[in-house]
Amino acid sequence: MLAAVHSATLVGVDGQPVTVEVHVSAGLPGYHVVGLPDAAGRESRERVRAALLSSGLSWPQRKITVNLAPGGVRKSGSGLELAVALGVLAATDELPAAVLDGAAVLGELGLDGTVRPVPGTLALVDALARLGIDRVVVPIANASEAALVRDVDVRAARSLGELRSCLKEEKEWPTWCANAAVGPPPPTDTSGDELLDLQDVRGLAVARNALEVAAAGNHHLVLVGPPGTGKTMLAQRMSTILPPLGHGEALEVTRIHSAAGEAIDGRLVEARPFRAPHHTASTPALVGGGSGRPRPGEVTLAHRGVLFLDELGEFAPSALDALRQPLEERVVRIARQPVSLTFPAAFQLVACTNPCPCGLGEPACRCSESQRGRYLRRLSAPLLDRFDVRVTVTAPEPRDVAGESSADVRVRVATAVARQRLRYADWPWSSNAQVPAGAVNRLIPLHPDAEGTWRELIDDRLLTGRGAARIRRVARTVADLEGAGEVTAAHLENAAMLRSDVP
Ligand SMILES: Nc1ncnc2c1ncn2[C@@H]1O[C@H](COP(=O)(O)OP(=O)(O)O)[C@@H](O)[C@H]1O
Ligand SMILES: [Mg+2]
Ligand SMILES: [Zn+2]
Repeated sequence: MLAAVHSATLVGVDGQPVTVEVHVSAGLPGYHVVGLPDAAGRESRERVRAALLSSGLSWPQRKITVNLAPGGVRKSGSGLELAVALGVLAATDELPAAVLDGAAVLGELGLDGTVRPVPGTLALVDALARLGIDRVVVPIANASEAALVRDVDVRAARSLGELRSCLKEEKEWPTWCANAAVGPPPPTDTSGDELLDLQDVRGLAVARNALEVAAAGNHHLVLVGPPGTGKTMLAQRMSTILPPLGHGEALEVTRIHSAAGEAIDGRLVEARPFRAPHHTASTPALVGGGSGRPRPGEVTLAHRGVLFLDELGEFAPSALDALRQPLEERVVRIARQPVSLTFPAAFQLVACTNPCPCGLGEPACRCSESQRGRYLRRLSAPLLDRFDVRVTVTAPEPRDVAGESSADVRVRVATAVARQRLRYADWPWSSNAQVPAGAVNRLIPLHPDAEGTWRELIDDRLLTGRGAARIRRVARTVADLEGAGEVTAAHLENAAMLRSDVP
């Protein structure tokens, strides 16, 4: 009369194991769900009932109580329906309860009994595996995604009727593409990113250096300059020189993208994310939240990768203000009842902007004093301060030629990244940009000959502690790109040049 089926639901972008308890008893026929289902969960009765009937199974004319435990967690979406249906079958002896021992079940049901995919399968299966569950039944469309979790036996479900037969060992389990993740990439990738290369960019020596240093040390970067000088072109090529994701990072990014409803086609996301939201993007689209179920924003989709904000000055000031908290904490906090949520948001910010609305800059600028002031106020000082690397871009000269290729720059960046990983192996961070301000002087020592240059720099630029720390971190990255053990005066000077007081 009572059956329990393991399943899971999404909380933010994380999986939360759920036990679906189904109790069928004598009494007035009815169906009640308790345990904080959302609107979709409350409607599950109609789909579960129709699916059972269309599969040639019966819907008990008795009192059915479904309890979703733990009670304090809101259960989102329809992904528990298959577990509810199997629970009803087990509670009415249509299915031996023992066949579900130690297994978990995920899936939404169609009225005809088909098992439909659920978002966030990787996060759900990952959470179940951590609980010790090593056998999962998932919608066939999600099977290769579920198989990205190691040491879990994945069974694919196509329809409720077929699944019941498979569980009773009356029928073979459907086969599914065993590992789409190692197959050739789908030809659907039309982003054209693989065609981008730094050698198409002429001139811009300082900005190219800035891009390389930012990529190597994970520093936030802003390029300021008049239109048509190649700012967007250069920034878009950032992803061609960044190191690929490690396996752990790739799993993490895949889990987040899948939970956010991005199409991942059951394969590991291996390219570092590069998200470029338009300047009309709303604050929730950018940082997450929104009405109803809180959704992750672009900053979370850019986790472990780049958030590219082109035309920074055109974004709504409120959206830019909302970026400051995730930039500081590397997570997004969203306060909601009954629980507040945290979305990961460790992204690297790359931005481009004109110096003023007309974009021409001095001396040709035609903007009024108030227009210019309004434009700069949008790029509030606290936001501009977060960019370790800030450079002005000037138009390439006619005689400027194509620069180095992405492949050449990528090798230097990869070496510098490896050096930092080694240096910070015992610390909870892995790049120069993340060394806490308080630890900068100790962890980034200077060559004795550079002390004088350092003091001059601080006096000349009236640097505060934070500004000084930023220059010192960038200097460490410049040294890493050269393979130098100690930070010299030349490295400091290069870093200072890469942090101009723009705009
Ligand atoms: N430095 C450059 N090297 C090669 N082409 C350039 C360069 N700067 C601009 N261009 C050309 O001009 C176009 C516009 O450049 P873009 O990157 O959009 O400029 P910005 O973002 O500074 O306004 C590019 O697509 C490219 O064809
Ligand atoms: Mg542009
Ligand atoms: Zn202007």
